[in-house]
Amino acid sequence: MPATLSKPAPRQLFVTTALPYANGKFHIGHIMEYIQADIWVRFQRMQGHTVHFVCADDAHGAPIMIAAEKAGMTPQQFVADIAAGRKPYLDGFHIAFDNWHSTDGPENHELARAIYRDLKAAGLIATRTIEQFFDPEKNMFLPDRFIKGECPKCGTRDQYGDNCENCGAVYSPTELKNPYSALSGVTPVLRNSEHYFFQLSDPRCVAFLEEWTQDTGHLQMEVYNKIREWLLPTETEDGVKSHGLSDWDISRDAPYFGIEIPDAPGKYFYVWLDAPIGYLASLKNHFAKQGLDYDAFMADPATEQYHFIGKDIITFHTLFWPALLHFSGRKTPNAVFVHGFLTVNSEKMSKSRGTGLDPLKYLSLGMNPEWLRYYIAAKLNSRNEDVEFSPEDFMARVNADLVGKYINIASRSAGFISKRFEGALGEVSADGDALLSHLQDAAAPVAELYAEREFGKALREVMLLADRVNEYVDQNKPWELAKKADMETRLQDVCTTCIQAFRLLTTYLKPVLPELAAQVEAFLKVEPLTFDGAGTRLPAGHAIGEYRHLMQRVDVKQLEALFEPAPAPAAEAAEETLALPGGEAISPLITIDDFAKIDLRIALIVNCEPVEGSTKLLRLTLDAGEGRHRNVFSGIASAYQPADLIGKLTVMVANLAPRKMKFGVSEGMVLAASAADEKASPGIYVLNPWPGAQPGMRVR
Ligand code: MSP
Ligand code: ZN
Repeated sequence: MPATLSKPAPRQLFVTTALPYANGKFHIGHIMEYIQADIWVRFQRMQGHTVHFVCADDAHGAPIMIAAEKAGMTPQQFVADIAAGRKPYLDGFHIAFDNWHSTDGPENHELARAIYRDLKAAGLIATRTIEQFFDPEKNMFLPDRFIKGECPKCGTRDQYGDNCENCGAVYSPTELKNPYSALSGVTPVLRNSEHYFFQLSDPRCVAFLEEWTQDTGHLQMEVYNKIREWLLPTETEDGVKSHGLSDWDISRDAPYFGIEIPDAPGKYFYVWLDAPIGYLASLKNHFAKQGLDYDAFMADPATEQYHFIGKDIITFHTLFWPALLHFSGRKTPNAVFVHGFLTVNSEKMSKSRGTGLDPLKYLSLGMNPEWLRYYIAAKLNSRNEDVEFSPEDFMARVNADLVGKYINIASRSAGFISKRFEGALGEVSADGDALLSHLQDAAAPVAELYAEREFGKALREVMLLADRVNEYVDQNKPWELAKKADMETRLQDVCTTCIQAFRLLTTYLKPVLPELAAQVEAFLKVEPLTFDGAGTRLPAGHAIGEYRHLMQRVDVKQLEALFEPAPAPAAEAAEETLALPGGEAISPLITIDDFAKIDLRIALIVNCEPVEGSTKLLRLTLDAGEGRHRNVFSGIASAYQPADLIGKLTVMVANLAPRKMKFGVSEGMVLAASAADEKASPGIYVLNPWPGAQPGMRVR
C-alpha cells in the first residue's frame, strides 16, 4: 500500500471567470470558459480548500445602451432580460458559481467610485481635452464602433472607425474618409470634450507593472511575452518605435449607461473601468448574502485571487486591472489564467455570432452535459491555445474512452458482486493489490496536473490507468470465473479489485464529472470522494448498491441533430415536434421552485381598446384585486374584438418585470394559447377561468 497523501493545508480562494456582456445569450465559447474554471474550482474544493467562485453580467457601455433603445426598453430592463436567461445554461452544464451578479448592482457603483477616489488621491488621475466625433442628431459622442466610412488606406466603404476589414489597416475614426454615424446616418462633427485618464505612463505604474508581469507565478509565459509588447518601449521589425504604456482614457460622456464619475457631472466611467471591479462587487454581494465579512476576507494576506479569461482581453486583466488594484491600495490577483478560443468545425467564432453548437439545443436533445465537460477537459491545457470541437472526435473520445474504458470497468464487475455476494466486497489478492497500488500512486501526479490546469494530460493519465484495469479484467475474465464452482472466492476478489479501481478512477475524474461521481458515490455507498481518500481502500465486507448503467454512448443521430441548421418555421420541424398540436416540443424540465417563481393571478379585464399604430396589440386594463389597475399590452388583436373581452376574467403573470414598449409601459402579461407559428395555424386563445374564480386569486 502506498503512503497516504499528505493533506494540503486549507487555502481560501476567490475565483472568477470573465463577466459576459449582457447583450446576448451565452455561446459555446462562454460555456467552455466556465467549464474550465469550474473543473479547477471543484478540484480545489476536493482538496479541502474554500473557494468563492463568482461571476456577473457586464451590463454597461454604449453598445448595450443602444441595443436597449432599439428594443424599446431601458438598459436596466434589457440586461435584466438577458440575466433571466442565464440559469438553464449554468445549471445544465453543472457550473457551480456561488453567485451571479451584475456590474450595475449597487456594490459595483460604490466600489468603482471608491477605487477611483483612491487613484485620484494617489495622483494618478488626470483630465485632458480631446477631440471626438459627435452625432449632432443623436446628441452624443460616438464610440469608434458606431462611426463608419471609407478606409483611409484602401478606400473600401462602410468600414468601422477603428480598423478596416478589407486591408486590415488600423487607424483612428478621424482618419476615415466620408465618415457617417452608424446610429443616425448623419455626418459626425468634431467636438471637444474633457476626458479623465488613468496615468499608466506614470513611472510608478510602469515600474509596478514591469515587476508584476515578470513574476512567472502571475502570468503564463506566452501571455507575458505578449504583454511586453505593450509595456516596454520596443522597436518592431519595420523599425517603428512604440513608446510603452500610454495613459488610459477612462471616461465617457453622457448619454452613457454606466457609473457616474464622482464630482464630474455628465461623465461616466468607461465600461472597462468598472467591469473587472464587478468581480469584487459580485464577491461582496455573495458575502453579504452569506453573512460573511468581505472586508476581512480581502484584507487577509492568505486570500488568493484568480481570474479565468480568454486571450482577447489580456491587456485589461494583466495591465490595467492589477494597476487599478495596486494603486488604490488593494490586493492584486495571484494569477490570471488565459485560455484560447473554442472553434467548432474549424470555424472561428465571432463574439456576437456564436457558432453552430448551441448549448441549449445540446441539452434539449438530451445530450449528456458531462460528455461536453469531458471532451473540453480532454482538449484543454495550461496554455492559451485554441481548442477545436470536432463532432467525430467528440464521439470517439466519449464513446471509446469515457464509456468504453472507464464506465466499462463497473459494468463488467459490479453485477457479480450484487448477484453472487449480496453486494459485499471481498479481499484483494496480490495481483489486485499491485494494480490498486499503481492506481493509488497516480493520485498526487494527477492532482498536480489539475492544479496546473493540464486537464488533457490528467485525463490521458486516467485513461492509461483505465487501460491497465481493463487488461486485468481481460486476463481474469470474471464471466468465466463465474461459471466455475471452485472459483467463487477468486471471482469476488477480481470483481472487488475492479470496484476498488473504479472508485479510484472516479475520484480522479470527479472534477470533470461531478454528477456522475455523485451517482457513483451513491452506488458504492461511500462518503464524497477526495484525492486524499485515494490513499485508502474500501474494507472487505463493505456492501455496495445495485449497479445501474451510468452513462450512455453518444448517438451519431444526436450529433446530426445538433448541427442541423435551425429549421425554417413549422414546415421542417422535427417529427416529435409535429406530433404535438402547435408544433412545439416540450421545454426542458424545471423544478417546482422554478415554477413557484411565476406569480399567476386571476385578473378582471376592466377595459380593452385598440392601440393606435399597432395592428397586433390590444391595450388591456386589468384588475387583479390590488386596489389599482394595471396596463398590459397583449398581441391578440388578430383574434379578439376589444368589446368581447371587457368584463371577462383571465390569467395574468403578475410578477413579470414591467416592460417599456413603444406605446407605453406593460405591467404584466396575459396568458393565451397558440401554435408556435401563429400564421401557419391560426388562432390565439386567451385563458379564461371557470366561473367562481375571483380577481387576485393565485393560480398554482
Ligand atoms: N465583458 C467582457 C469581459 C469583462 S471581464 C471584467 C467580455 N465579454 S464577452 O462576453 O465578450 O466574453 C466573455 C469571455 O468569453 C471572455 O473571456 C472571452 O475571451 C470568452 N470567449 C468569447 N468567445 C470565446 C470562444 N470562442 N472560446 C472561448 N472563450 C471565448 O469580453
Ligand atoms: Zn482598407
